[in-house]
Amino acid sequence: MKLDNPFLTRGYAGPEYFCDRVAETSALVSAMSNGRDVTLVAPRRYGKTGLILNTFKKLGEDYVTVYLDILAIDDLTTFVQAFSSAVLGTLDSTAERVGRKIVSFFKSCRPTMTPQNDGSVSFSFDISPTQAKSTLKDTFDYIASRKQKIVIAIDEFQQIREFPEKGVEAYLRSYIQFVPNAHFIFAGSKKHMMDEMFVSSQGPFYQSTQLMSLDVISADSYSKFAKGFFSAARRRFSPTAFAYLYQRFEGVTWYVQSVLNRVWSHGEGLESNEQIDRTVSELVDESGLFYHDLLRSQTDAEQSLLKAIGREGVVGAISAGDFIRRHRLPAASTIRSAAAKLQNRDIIYRTEKGFIVYDRFFGLWLAGL
Ligand SMILES: Nc1ncnc2c1ncn2[C@@H]1O[C@H](COP(=O)(O)OP(=O)(O)O)[C@@H](O)[C@H]1O
Ligand SMILES: [Mg+2]
Repeated sequence: MKLDNPFLTRGYAGPEYFCDRVAETSALVSAMSNGRDVTLVAPRRYGKTGLILNTFKKLGEDYVTVYLDILAIDDLTTFVQAFSSAVLGTLDSTAERVGRKIVSFFKSCRPTMTPQNDGSVSFSFDISPTQAKSTLKDTFDYIASRKQKIVIAIDEFQQIREFPEKGVEAYLRSYIQFVPNAHFIFAGSKKHMMDEMFVSSQGPFYQSTQLMSLDVISADSYSKFAKGFFSAARRRFSPTAFAYLYQRFEGVTWYVQSVLNRVWSHGEGLESNEQIDRTVSELVDESGLFYHDLLRSQTDAEQSLLKAIGREGVVGAISAGDFIRRHRLPAASTIRSAAAKLQNRDIIYRTEKGFIVYDRFFGLWLAGL
């Protein structure tokens, strides 16, 4: 299908709307087809989910692919419901193949099957917390019984550490060892939490997966990608303006996509730096009300710190005397604990250069206060 606007701001619409990631996609395909599980880590909005879906596409018909995002899941029971429904819904999508077979696997809890209009079947599990573990085990037994080659991606995997039930990772890992026909992609955006599970020698997944981190798309291939669409539509494309856009957001995919999407929707070509600035302001202003509420919902110290980081862009030493004086911030100890809380809630983010406001549009909005 041809899209009216080629610059997506969410989801995946096929390789023609997907820029580069050639090496990363082949690395993932190679890992999956050679029996290695992968841990994929990058900050939000770099393009992890897109890369997973592009890899699924590339894996083609030989594989059954299952995608599950667990960001909004808070406990084991809900996780098992989501995981088991996703697995069954994909592995057994046609009504004829369902039935007795599945029922025999799920001893602890029978899934409810709902036929869909397109002939497929959807599954749901109404389980109590006491049934969660055994239903998960049943699901893995079921996976192991299938003849298909299966790839299962669990996105925002670090969320599993927020569950009140402890040690979920450990038995997930133990079940995974017995499903040779299925391979896993564990994607996550919180590096330290992912590291604790996959990199630390005490972690349950220590040395059990191939570690992959995702950098931003290179300026060169991103520019060519964007130019392709503008030129094909006989719109102007200024490589300088693109370079300026790319550099303003350090190449982070979602911001670049958002600006290109907006420029495109105005029916414009990519013309000038001034146009980029104008478009960015438009996007930032649109979220003003939301940012206003977000700011107000933080404590006073957190608000002051956020504004200070927003104004500076990036702050190397968060509790340094000159930074604190410059912005008339509270005492260093207060700032350190405010920073820790904001970081935990993903409102600020620590890069190699220092702390930044995680949502770069929010950062720009704060800078403009
Ligand atoms: N290689 C790519 N080419 C074009 N757009 C992409 C690419 N990767 C991601 N995107 C787009 O960028 C945005 C953020 O990507 P996403 O995969 O959701 O990031 P993450 O999962 O790391 O938060 C989405 O709108 C997605 O459609
Ligand atoms: Mg994602």
